[in-house]
Order: sequence, then structure tokens, then C-alpha cells
Amino acid sequence: GMPARVTVFEVGPRDGLQAETDIIPTPVKAELCRRLYAAGSRDLEVTSFVPPAWIPQLADAAEVVAAVDVPDAARAVALVPNLKGLQRALDAGIREVSVVVSATESFAKANLNNTRSGAIDRAVEVIQAATADGIPVRGYVSMAFGDPWEGEVDTQAVAQAATALHEAGSRTVALGDTIGVATPGLTGRVVQETLAAGIPVSALALHLHDTYGQSLGNVHAALRLGVAEFDASVGGLGRCPYAKGATGNLATEDLVWMLHGLGIETGLDLGALAATTLWLSRIRGIPAPSNVARALAAA
Ligand code: HMG
Ligand code: MG
Repeated sequence: GMPARVTVFEVGPRDGLQAETDIIPTPVKAELCRRLYAAGSRDLEVTSFVPPAWIPQLADAAEVVAAVDVPDAARAVALVPNLKGLQRALDAGIREVSVVVSATESFAKANLNNTRSGAIDRAVEVIQAATADGIPVRGYVSMAFGDPWEGEVDTQAVAQAATALHEAGSRTVALGDTIGVATPGLTGRVVQETLAAGIPVSALALHLHDTYGQSLGNVHAALRLGVAEFDASVGGLGRCPYAKGATGNLATEDLVWMLHGLGIETGLDLGALAATTLWLSRIRGIPAPSNVARALAAA
């Protein structure tokens, strides 16, 4: 049956802001994190520590971390691409990190300047160094459902990358639909294949982008298989600048509307999330793509 409670892993401050073309001031990023915690988020990816030349939007990662008080029992996770990023994150006061690999060669090259297996080796190195320091790690397998250059993705390659992260010590492995092409049948097959490879369902998450509007159907397919952790971005912001055709993440409000409708607990305050989206949209002068945020604002 479906889980009674789901973890909504909020990636808005990281994935949501990493490719926006307007410069978001550091105090606004920090206020976004504060508002998300106040809306009940306990699982927040706050930024990434990658070379500023790769993601100029998040060059102020250390300043954002310094400006945010993390509530008791809440997580503040930072994405790190290598040992240098891990060190920068630890120096900034971060106590949990995420790492990213690719199920395809093309995206390993475009996003990580590496081969598929080289990127896995580098992620494993970070996982081992972090866990030796008592720092938990979350692992992403990107392009797990389709690749803009290669098309269909080998589900065995996804399961193998996920297994490598899991066996190295990742607490959670998030399968990423980086360009939002998955449909519910494919989602079910990839999830089942990954579970069959030996990853417990409690260690599996889905990270969906909503490019083709399929995310909620995909969440539903995964819920039926017992998956109980989903990534989302407030307002539906987010994309990857190194993935052709990627648009926003599944909007947190859209996900929470569906989960609460199914009677599944999230601990999140939908009104406070929608108000956060409205607040950020006003500051930026750009409307957010979330259907639910838009509907609630008009209601
Ligand atoms: P590279 O250029 O091969 O790196 O990039 P390098 O090791 O050759 O270093 C180049 C320079 O960067 C050197 O400086 C390093 O010191 C410096 P120089 O000697 O020239 O002065 N450097 C750093 N500086 C600050 N912080 C660091 C760091 N590392 C090296 N951490 C690298 C290789 C992996 C670093 C690069 O490809 C990279 O950062 N990739 C990540 C890009 C990114 O952030 N993409 C978006 C996040 S992933 C995503 O969105 C997908 C996801 O959401 C899941 C999904 O949607 O499926 C997670
Ligand atoms: Mg993403």
C-alpha cells in the first residue's frame, strides 16, 4: 500500500535557483530558506559548493549558510561535486551533503566533466570521506529516465549507479528525471529495477522535473511501490543549465496538494508554501510555474 507519511525533500534554494538568469541577492536566498523551514520543511537542500565558473548563481553558498539558522531536527544539505566542494561545505558549517552522478556518458561529460564511471568514482570518494567524518550523504543519479542526447536510458545503468552510491554509504539515493520525460509506466519499471538491485525502498527517492507535466503521475506510480521520499521545488522553480531542455522541478505545492488529497502526511503547511512562492515571485517580478500556487492565489 501507499506510505502514510512522505518526506518532501525541498530543493528550491539549490536546484530552483541554480539556473535562474536573474541574480537573487544573498539575503533573499536566506529568507527563502527561513520561510521554507517556517512552512514545516525539515529536509532542505540549501545550496551547492561547486566552482563559481560552473554555477555563478550559487557563488554565495557560504554566505547563505551563515545567514540561516537551522531549526532543531531539520536538515540543511549542500550539493558538492568533489572533495574540494565537501571541504568548502564543511568549513561553512554544513553537516550533510549530496553528490551527483549520471546514468549516461553524455551528461557525465556535460555536467561533471567526467566519464560515467569516473563520476561515480569521484562521488564514492566524497561519500567515503564524508561518512568517515560522520557527515551523512544523499546521492543523485541524474538522467535516470531519459537523456536529451542519448534518448532512452539503460535501466541497468541506473540500477548500477544507484547501487554504487548506496553501497558506498549514501543514506538515500534519488533517481533524477533531469529533463522531465518520464511517464508512470517507465517510472514504475525503473523503480522496480532499482529495488531489485538491492536498494531498500526506505533508501530510495525520486527527483522529478516537470518539463512534460508528468511528475504527479510518476509520483503516484512510485507511491504504489512504497517510495516515500520525493524532491520538489517551491513554486516549481529549477532546471539544470547543463541539461538541454530541462525545466522546473515538480512544484512543492503541487506535490503537497496531491499527497494531502491522498491522506498522506507531509508536515508541510500548504498555505505557507504558496505564500512563499508569491513572496519570491513579487520580489523577482517573475511568476512561478506552480499550478497550485497560482490557483490558491486566485481562490
Ligand atoms: P572541472 O572544471 O573539471 O574541475 O569541473 P577541476 O577539478 O578541473 O577544477 C577547475 C577549477 O575549479 C580549479 O580552479 C579548481 O580548484 C576549482 P583553478 O585551479 O582553475 O583556479 N574547483 C572548485 N572551486 C570551488 N568549489 C569546488 C571546486 N572544484 C574545483 N567544489 C566539476 C568538474 C565536477 C567541479 C564541475 O563539473 C561541477 O562542479 N559540476 C557540477 C555542475 C552543477 O552544479 N550542475 C548542477 C547540479 S547537478 C543537477 O542539477 C542535477 C540534479 O538536480 C539531479 C537531476 O535533476 O537529475 C542533482
Ligand atoms: Mg534537478
